[in-house]
Amino acid sequence: MTPTAAPQSLTLLRPDDWHLHLRDGALLRTVLPDTAARFGRAIVMPNLNPPVTSVAAATAYRSRILAALPARSGFMPLMTLYLTESTTVAEIQRAKESGIVHAVKYYPAGATTNSENGVRDLQAVYPVLAAMERWDLPLLLHGEVTDPSVDIFDREAVFIERHLQPLRQTFPGLRIVLEHVTTSAAVDFVESAGPRTAATITAHHLLLNRNALFQGGLRPHHYCLPVLKREQHRQALLRAVASGNPRFFLGTDSAPHPRDKKESACGCAGIYTAHAGIELYAEAFAGIGALEQLEAFASRHGPAFYGLPCNTDTIRLERQPWTAPASLGAEEIIPFRAGEEIAWRLVDKTGTCEMTSGL
Ligand code: DOR
Ligand code: ZN
Repeated sequence: MTPTAAPQSLTLLRPDDWHLHLRDGALLRTVLPDTAARFGRAIVMPNLNPPVTSVAAATAYRSRILAALPARSGFMPLMTLYLTESTTVAEIQRAKESGIVHAVKYYPAGATTNSENGVRDLQAVYPVLAAMERWDLPLLLHGEVTDPSVDIFDREAVFIERHLQPLRQTFPGLRIVLEHVTTSAAVDFVESAGPRTAATITAHHLLLNRNALFQGGLRPHHYCLPVLKREQHRQALLRAVASGNPRFFLGTDSAPHPRDKKESACGCAGIYTAHAGIELYAEAFAGIGALEQLEAFASRHGPAFYGLPCNTDTIRLERQPWTAPASLGAEEIIPFRAGEEIAWRLVDKTGTCEMTSGL
């Protein structure tokens, strides 16, 4: 497809976001409308402080999210539990029976934001993983080693070799999602690991390579974990999404931090993309002539893997540039492309611009 022959508008089954940080309190109220305007459901990350480690905490957090939704929104949060070395098999059973917890998230201790309570020794949680396999509760992996002797750009590939391959062999029935994949090693692994292994891919890892971290100076708003990688890895991610393989699906990893926590001597990891959560993927897919694969990636592959129905309503996108807000909310979240153009626009069914928190 040549760029001139590319469609100027798209109607998609409403997409879901299979990896999202919504935070809590005022920040939750700032960011939630952006996601709710685009996505039907989202897998909500549990790395609050303190983390969401029990069904009781997930139930309370879910109620706070529902209470913060804009009026008449049909958005459904899909909750997760934060895996610790103290997580019990009984809690896993409660999670499965709750109907509101859809997965358990593994953070290697020290790997990223609020991961201090994460897992130090993966083998210590093997009994819990066995229970998840038995009750068919998916495991979501932040797939990076924390070994300081491993180069930060190699941490995903080393995780796959050291931990994921043995894990995959030990629990063949466990549904595993390798979250926010960034490397050709991860793409190769998912492509060869069979039907119970999938991966989410962010828009920012499809659109940027690691040069974006140092574009004319240090760019804290392009810093996330796993960190952006070389161009050859971005190309591997683009090939994966263009292939139509159903085991790759949309997960924004939109991760808001207040401006002062990003623009700091030790800035937090996380890129906020929810203000253009589907539009940025449209840009990435259009850039490689793969727009015909966008609906499956955004709206069909995720529900199929999680065993849920697809959404039934639709959204509409038009190729019509708009300028992303310079900042959002009292926390001054600096969104991806702040003050710059985004090529695709979400429109409502009458063709006017959809309201988001930033407009
Ligand atoms: O960039 C990231 N931000 N990566 C993560 O793994 C966590 C997230 C956050 O919570 O800010
Ligand atoms: Zn995340």
